[in-house]
Amino acid sequence: MTRVHPGPRDAGPIKTYLDCDTGIDDAMALLYLHHRPEVDLLGVGTVSGNVTSAQAARNTLALLELVGSSTPVAVGERDPLAQAFAGGAPSVHGRAGTGNVQLPPSARLPHELDAPDLLIRLAREHPGALRVIATGPLTNLAVALRREPELPGLVAEVTIMGGAALAPGNITPAAEANIAGDPEAAAAVFAADWPLTMVGLDVTMQHRLTEEHRGKLLTGEHEPARVIGQMLDRYLDFYVGIFGVRGCALHDPLAAAIGVGLVVPSLAPTVRVEVDTTTGPGRGGTVADLRGQYVDYPAQEGANCRVVLAVDDAFADDLVATLLQIPGAG
Ligand code: RIB
Ligand code: CA
Repeated sequence: MTRVHPGPRDAGPIKTYLDCDTGIDDAMALLYLHHRPEVDLLGVGTVSGNVTSAQAARNTLALLELVGSSTPVAVGERDPLAQAFAGGAPSVHGRAGTGNVQLPPSARLPHELDAPDLLIRLAREHPGALRVIATGPLTNLAVALRREPELPGLVAEVTIMGGAALAPGNITPAAEANIAGDPEAAAAVFAADWPLTMVGLDVTMQHRLTEEHRGKLLTGEHEPARVIGQMLDRYLDFYVGIFGVRGCALHDPLAAAIGVGLVVPSLAPTVRVEVDTTTGPGRGGTVADLRGQYVDYPAQEGANCRVVLAVDDAFADDLVATLLQIPGAG
């Protein structure tokens, strides 16, 4: 089964659903998608990962309040399919998932549907047009597939921030955090018959936001950029242990930009990818069949995923420029 990515998009803003575990890089992806005129962010679902799905929803509602958005936010699955929730990543994103920043809570409540049902509703309302972007563990997408087996035929394409093809993992030597957060769910997403793009650590660790970028956000004209700059302080502290300097990987915003076609990868072969769901040291790993790399990746039987290996654009500068433009609601 080799799925071909849809061609040039139809006219009009891209209808988009974001599934996230709003943490700090998710927050940047959220505001980027909210602000870009090429994107119509129809709904957001939250999943446990950096924080619980309920906390991620509070964070997402608070961020959307900051920019005056009424995009619906639905709370998704709290627990992974086949393992206990690992408790979040407070050392990376802060206890609440917003670094050291206390966001003013939104008055808005989450949507009455849960995240999988919101995704299914949007896919049915926009058959063949909805682009799904996932920047957390894939539990909601897997549950949505169970509830609506026709979902792959309703969705235009799926882009995930997750996995690592040639790069090492970040939560274990083999596994990237979003896949490791729910390997069984990830396996279901990779097995489904929809056009899938994996934006993994191979490329996200190469695109970094620096202290200089953060300084521009902190002194931005509008409040949203300043708040993101404040949230990034703790995130850059964490990354000193990874990169040796205060600079962070742009995991989720890069995946979001690729998912809506605003960043085009320079190398992204479509190959077979399998998720390791064993209980061994490889659990949560994404095993990509890149053996064709020596002959420019010929078409591969059973290929199920476009794996992004390189992006030439200087994305960090574009991201910061976009974030600086976002007006606050006040
Ligand atoms: O491995 C990085 C991913 O895990 C990012 O999406 C980050 O927000 C966390 O969810
Ligand atoms: Ca995330």
